This record gives sequence, C-alpha cells and structure tokens, in this order.
Amino acid sequence: MAVSEAAPPIVSQRLRPLPRTAWERLPPGPRGLPVVGSALAYLRSPLRTVEQAHARYGRAFTLPWFGYPLVWLIGPEAHRLLLSEQPQRFLWRPALANLIPLLGEGLLVTDGAEHDRLRRLMLPAFQRQRLDAYLPIIWDYAQRTAAHWRPGQVVEINAAMRVLTLNVAARCFLGVELGRDSAALSRAFFAMGPYLELQWPFHLLRLALPCTAYGQFRRGLRQLDAFVYQLLATKRADPDLASHDDALSALLRARDTDGTGLTSRQLRDQAVTLLAAGHNTTAHGLSWTLYLLARHPAVLAQLLDEHRRVLGGGVPTPEHVRALTYTEQVIKEALRLYPPAWAGARVTAEEVRFQQYVLPPGTTVAYCQWLSHRLPDVFAQPLHFLPERWAPEGGETHPPFAYVPFGGGARLCLGMAFALLEMKLVLAALLARWRLVLVPGQRVVPQPTVTLAPRDGIRFRVEPA
Ligand code: HEM
Repeated sequence: MAVSEAAPPIVSQRLRPLPRTAWERLPPGPRGLPVVGSALAYLRSPLRTVEQAHARYGRAFTLPWFGYPLVWLIGPEAHRLLLSEQPQRFLWRPALANLIPLLGEGLLVTDGAEHDRLRRLMLPAFQRQRLDAYLPIIWDYAQRTAAHWRPGQVVEINAAMRVLTLNVAARCFLGVELGRDSAALSRAFFAMGPYLELQWPFHLLRLALPCTAYGQFRRGLRQLDAFVYQLLATKRADPDLASHDDALSALLRARDTDGTGLTSRQLRDQAVTLLAAGHNTTAHGLSWTLYLLARHPAVLAQLLDEHRRVLGGGVPTPEHVRALTYTEQVIKEALRLYPPAWAGARVTAEEVRFQQYVLPPGTTVAYCQWLSHRLPDVFAQPLHFLPERWAPEGGETHPPFAYVPFGGGARLCLGMAFALLEMKLVLAALLARWRLVLVPGQRVVPQPTVTLAPRDGIRFRVEPA
C-alpha cells in the first residue's frame, strides 16, 4: 500500500458568540433549553424541530445551538440568495466541517480558487459523451442486481441500492470493478454515518472504542483508505494509464501550469468524494422512488407502460433514455417529496442581509429542501405524489429556485445528470423483471442524517413481473 499523507485537521465551524444586539437582528426562533438551546431537540428529531419552527416562525427562523445561532432560510428567495447570488459571500468548508474527517480536501468541502480548480479538473468526467459511455455499464450492474434476486425473496431495498450505486460509482468514476469488496465498502460507509452526523461540539468527543461512533468511523475510514491508496498505487504502476478515461485516472494525469500534479492525499480525497457523493444520495433517491411507486399503482402502471413502449426489452440507447419523459417526472416528484439532500449549510463570509434580517460574518445559515419543496403556495397539493405536475405541457409552473434537489448556481451538483441517468436505468432494469410488494406492517420513517435515508430501510417482497 502506498504511504498515506497526513489528513487535514478537523476544523470546527467558525462560531462566534454574538452580542445581544446582533441576535435581535436575526430571524426569530425558539429559546430552547438553557445552555444547549435547540440542539438536543434537533439531534433527537431534526425534521420535527425544523417543521415546528417553520410552522411557528415562517420562512426565516433561528435555532439557538449552545449559544450560537443556526439560521434557516426557506423558499425560492432564500435559495436564490444562498445558491446563486454572489457565491463568494458564503463558505462551504466551515459549514460542512463534520464531513472533513472523511472528505479531507475533496471538492465538496473546498472554497474559492481551490474549489474552482478541482471542479474544472473533474468536469470532463460528467460531460454528455462520458454519460453516454457510462450507460451500458450502469445497465449491466442494474441487470446483475435484478438477476440476483429470487421470487418471494424479501429485499431491504436501501441496502441493495447502496451496494449497486457504490459499484456503479467505483466503476464509472474510479475505473475499478469492486467485486467482493463492494459489500464490505458499502458497510464501511454505512458505519461511518453516525460519527459524521454528530454536529459540533459532539464531534470533539473522539473516543475510539469499538462501540463508539468515533471507533466505528475510524474502522470504516481505515478500510476505505486502504482500498483507495491501493487503487492509486495500481493505477500509478499501470503503463496504460494514459488510455483510461475514468475521473480518477484523469486526475492522476492532471498537471498544473508549473507541472505539479495532485498529491496522493489530494487524489484520495477526490476519489472518496466521488464515491461518497456519488452513491448514497442516488441510493436513497431510488429507494424513495420505489417506495412511492409501490404506494401509487396507477403511477406505476403508467411508468411500466412507458418502459414497454420506449425500451421494448432491449439495451437502452441514450435516445431511449431521453425519451423516458414520464419516468423523469416520477423521479423529479420523488426527489421533491423525499429529497436525499434534505438541507444544506453555508457560513457567511461577510455581513448578509435577507429581508429585514442581518446575518453577521461567521453565521451558519441553512436552506432546507424538505421544507421548501412542501410549501403550499409553491406546489399545489404539496404532500401528494403527483408526477404530472412536472409534465412539460399542462404541468405546474414554479418560481425559479423553488425546486432544488441538486442545489443550484456555481455549486450545482456535479453528478445531477449522472444521477438522473442512473435512476432511470435502474428503475427500468428492476421493474422489467420484478414486482416489488411492500412487506406489510413495516413503518417507513425518513431519517435526516447527512442525507435523507429510510431509518429502518424499506422491505419489499420480490415477485416476478
Ligand atoms: C439523487 C442523487 C443526488 C442528489 C440528490 C445530489 C444532491 C446534491 C446537492 C444538493 C449538492 C449541493 C449541496 C449544497 O448546495 O449544499 C450536491 C453537490 C455535489 N454532488 Fe450531488 N447529488 C446526487 C448525486 C450525485 C452523484 C451521482 C455525484 C457523482 C459523483 C454527485 C457529486 C456531487 C459533487 C462532487 C458535488 C459538489 C459540487 C461542488 O461543490 O462544486 N452527486 N449534490
């Protein structure tokens, strides 16, 4: 294994005590408990806490967090401010500090010129021709998953989708077939979750015992790092590196104007970012879509009809996939109701004004797809699963920035087109073979961790289609 370089230090959010006068210019909010404020309520139930605050205080509210303000801005205007207007006024890295132990200096947690440089280096892997080349690979993995199931078997779909999407991300972005490593790596990512979710100041509780969240995080990280550094060593030794067109090989070849390339640590961070950002979100999106389809048989029937008409049983071409317009509406609607990225955070780099409120520099400010995608004055019957609202003709119109499952602006999700392609193909491959019947009696509960997962998974009995 190649020698790994030191991980960057864990930085805490740049939290500053605010004078009383500054609090008064922030959006209103609950006082919460002494010392902890709303932190414990939020850690117990993030969705309920933000829903209650939204119901009481409206589209701008502040949750006190150990004496520091956590500002939430909801709705299209808030998204426009946070995602698109003058991105230099907001920072990502301090806002996503909890992910730094995993992602180091990966694209997702960098700012400014370094972010722009990394994004430019990664962009070619997500362009149209590359997506067309990924199509048969994704189709093949989805077929293999479908072929693996047996009639009457009970499948926990979220775990199955996490393994599938991890395999796809590794093959497409890192150019490697995971094979037997896939289940173990998927479990490693899963085990790291609880520690990454713990927000300041809890992530300072670094007690590395087998039973603690930090202990499990360390074990998962060791496994992941061993895999990535081994892969980098293999690639470096490969005389055919120049002919490989996966994102990691391109990053290995990339040189700055002065001829220097990325260090092993920087390469490791981008590889882990591609795996982490590229698999859980899509797996959750697929799980929620299949769940909603199982509960809406008329939508499922229309979707299957489109698959039969457009795909006709063969290996799809890019044109076929583009013609799956109803499938796209179904996916968009599932991502509206159950957005895998359910909230995002920034830290203000300078004073920012929103409506009558003033946010001083260093304030953590969040946007929230979960709340914004359910606003009744933006989406008709917001709690209903209505794919036809997205119909190109006769559908609903929404204000710009109302719908942001992939964020927006300069930091729009790099994998958006890839994720939509993957979701379409996986749905088509699975549903051509199997009817997924929800196992009765289970409670399906959305759990907003880093991403919005079904807390106890979703169990389906698979029957031949
Ligand atoms: C349904 C699936 C997906 C969803 C819902 C999703 C959502 C998002 C969102 C909301 C952001 C922006 C976060 C913010 O503004 O706070 C983001 C960024 C990002 N996503 Fe995705 N994503 C998905 C799939 C993917 C895939 C397949 C990849 C492939 C590697 C990917 C890679 C990235 C990267 C690299 C960024 C950071 C972009 C930057 O900072 O310039 N995502 N994603």
